[in-house]
Amino acid sequence: MTPNDTALAQAQAHDNADVLAAFRARFAMPRDERGAELIYLSGHSLGLMPLSARELLAQELDDWSRLAVLGHEHGRRPWVPYHENLTAGLSTLTGSRAGEVVAMNSLTVNLHLMMASFYRPEGARTKVLMEAGAFSSDRHAVASQIAWHGLDPEAHLIELAPRSGEDTVPEAAIETAIGAHGPQLALVLWPGVQFRTGQAFDLARIARAAHGAGCPVGFDLAHSVGNLPLALHDSGADFAVWCSYKYLNGGPGAIGGCFVHERHARAQPRTRHAGGIPGARLTGWWGHESETRFLMEPAFRAAAGADAWQVSNPPILAAAPLLASLAIFAEADLARLRAKSVLLTGFMDTLVRRLAPRVHILTPADSTQRGCQLSIRIAGGTQRGRAVFDALTARGIICDWRTPDIIRVAPVPLYNRFAEVAQFATALAEILERQQ
Ligand SMILES: Cc1ncc(COP(=O)(O)O)c(C=O)c1O
Repeated sequence: MTPNDTALAQAQAHDNADVLAAFRARFAMPRDERGAELIYLSGHSLGLMPLSARELLAQELDDWSRLAVLGHEHGRRPWVPYHENLTAGLSTLTGSRAGEVVAMNSLTVNLHLMMASFYRPEGARTKVLMEAGAFSSDRHAVASQIAWHGLDPEAHLIELAPRSGEDTVPEAAIETAIGAHGPQLALVLWPGVQFRTGQAFDLARIARAAHGAGCPVGFDLAHSVGNLPLALHDSGADFAVWCSYKYLNGGPGAIGGCFVHERHARAQPRTRHAGGIPGARLTGWWGHESETRFLMEPAFRAAAGADAWQVSNPPILAAAPLLASLAIFAEADLARLRAKSVLLTGFMDTLVRRLAPRVHILTPADSTQRGCQLSIRIAGGTQRGRAVFDALTARGIICDWRTPDIIRVAPVPLYNRFAEVAQFATALAEILERQQ
């Protein structure tokens, strides 16, 4: 038996024992032009379509066509309180209490709204600490917020990079940086999982360090939610934001999400717009208490909890597919998904690591420090790496390329098989062999 045969046999055994295997059939598998299923390993970028999304979306279109404006009150799922349908599922996935999460807007917009409340530079506390190499949108948002407060982003944005020769940033280094800049920090913004390396962080530990320095902390959970179990409430985080089109399978441009710790919602003034943390909030009518919203009075009365941070009425057509996906998550159960994910990504790690030194995995080997994504660098530079990536694509393997030299792959426990992981590793080995 060749190593590839052995890997395929092992994969088969894992797939046969997989209690979650049936969930794959609940998703639309993308296919090539001849109708053959692609090997889809890009759930970290855009999750697959739950088949039930079509029906839920069709129901909303149907209600719109039959009821028009009356759908706000009389739709199957009335549109006025529609976002509430999403709250329980998001609370479970993020480890939040009722009232701490809300589905709204999209990620970067939510980040701006959160920074409007939680980045309040004052006196010597003006700086933001974030990771170097952050997702561009996060950096743009932070830099523009700093500038919007009349400050110079170059001087007020502290970006923590891995130590020279290392790929990842240990939590101890974050604690050290927070300690070093403590009295100057107005905000720590950190990812739950770093998008380029796949490194997962201990949110509670970072929150403790930030709070110890007297500074609020927020998390970008784009690559965490639906991927790793989260305990946002217990972590003590002040806020968190995420998108729903990756592991949450909410569809392209799906409605995003937001967490505000209940201590802030409790402390907020209900009946006025106010300054300071956390009273400062950019508001709109959807953040108004729902019972009196339609009185349309000039005075603002905040909704309870994170709902108060809503601005506009929710995009129903961008929310219905998420509802379909959250129902699947509730059935599958995140703890079971995580158990499969540790095995699935561990299997991929083992197979890919055999190809060293021609490939290098940037993602930590310790499963507690990663979700399902592995980030792989091909030895020999950008061109070589890109050629490998293109060859994988030509073989019907959908992963993604991050400039300058990283291939990201994510076997997603809801719909990927161990066999696909083995096929990916075999293809990678063959492509590298041919490139010798
Ligand atoms: C880490 C991170 N931040 C921000 C964004 C931007 O998201 P949006 O376009 O929904 O604002 C993404 C999108 O993939 C992301 O992965």
